[in-house]
Amino acid sequence: MDYHELINKAEQTHKLAGSEIVALLKNEEYQEELAQAADRVRHVFVGDEVHLRGLIEFSNICKQNCLYCGLRRDNKKVERYRLSEAEILDFAAKAKSYGYKTVVMQSGEDMHFSVDILSRVLRKIKKMDLAITLSIGEKTYEEYKAYKEAGADRYLIRIETTDRELYEALNPGMSFENRLRCLSDLKRLGYEVGTGSLVGLPNQPIESLARDLLFFQEIDADMVGIGPFIPNGDTPLHNAKGGSFLLARSFVALLRLLLPEANIPATTAMETLDRNARIIALQSGANVVMPNVTEGDYRRKYALYPGKICISDTPAHCRGCISGKIMAIGRKISEHKGFRCHANSNK
Ligand code: SAM
Ligand code: SF4
Ligand code: FES
Repeated sequence: MDYHELINKAEQTHKLAGSEIVALLKNEEYQEELAQAADRVRHVFVGDEVHLRGLIEFSNICKQNCLYCGLRRDNKKVERYRLSEAEILDFAAKAKSYGYKTVVMQSGEDMHFSVDILSRVLRKIKKMDLAITLSIGEKTYEEYKAYKEAGADRYLIRIETTDRELYEALNPGMSFENRLRCLSDLKRLGYEVGTGSLVGLPNQPIESLARDLLFFQEIDADMVGIGPFIPNGDTPLHNAKGGSFLLARSFVALLRLLLPEANIPATTAMETLDRNARIIALQSGANVVMPNVTEGDYRRKYALYPGKICISDTPAHCRGCISGKIMAIGRKISEHKGFRCHANSNK
């Protein structure tokens, strides 16, 4: 197989067959060339701006039991917390003061946050002129509708894996059909829809990752956030091998080549495996970073996986840290809300 030609084809046409994606994901020798092509496509389609989204981890209480996640309901070791409405609003106001144009509100599936409570919070945040991304798991159509009406603009819900059997094995009590239903409801309601996968799950061959990429293309995802799976010692997958940064990086590059207009974050989980991972990802196709704006000990307690970065740092420190690194590679911090670009869709 001529890898150089394959990368060229992806850069020109934004189309690859499953077998071609597999070949590129498997070939580490061509990773640099793949990343450079993705970086050029990123420059042409979404430009040099990096969108910073302030992440508020507002509850680590979860009714679900995903085998990979430290917040799963059967994990008795995690110290549970739930932010008060006043704390959430305080962190959102601070996010605004750091210059962030979007807040990402993420939590476990915490039933305390009823539609009434959360909608009230969303309306107040909306008055701060911030874009709002929600990442709170599986809800009904009516709930998604209420959140949209209260001001949510975007919704992140990873498919995690498009392998139906693997999904249902890893997410006991949850169904793949319902995950798809959530994505389709969100799209129907006019959200910008973000999804993504865990890379390096047990029993997840490269062929399965290639199908994930084609799925994101097929549903025309507005955002795709992927991260290496990092085994957590307090979960049933404590002995699993986990994903590698190299594979995650090639996945990001292929995402940019196949979905040139999408917003693609350089994720925290990547940086857990490599101290410069977010910058490398930004140079391999990514254009978004989500610095944490949750304060104090909550950062440590939102323990999806071990080795999470920035747990002892303040939001102000992270703001300075990540901005400095971004500017050092010649990129700009965006002054805009960073909605998905459609300007080049005829390219
Ligand atoms: N509860 C919501 C949901 O599941 O969509 C949002 C919060 S959940 C903690 C956010 C993401 O964390 C999940 O989509 C999953 O991909 C990721 N995650 C969970 N456990 C992880 C692990 N051990 N390693 C890497 N990422 C993990
Ligand atoms: Fe809960 Fe989300 Fe973790 Fe699953 S991934 S246990 S839904 S917080
Ligand atoms: Fe938190 Fe660098 S982004 S310390």
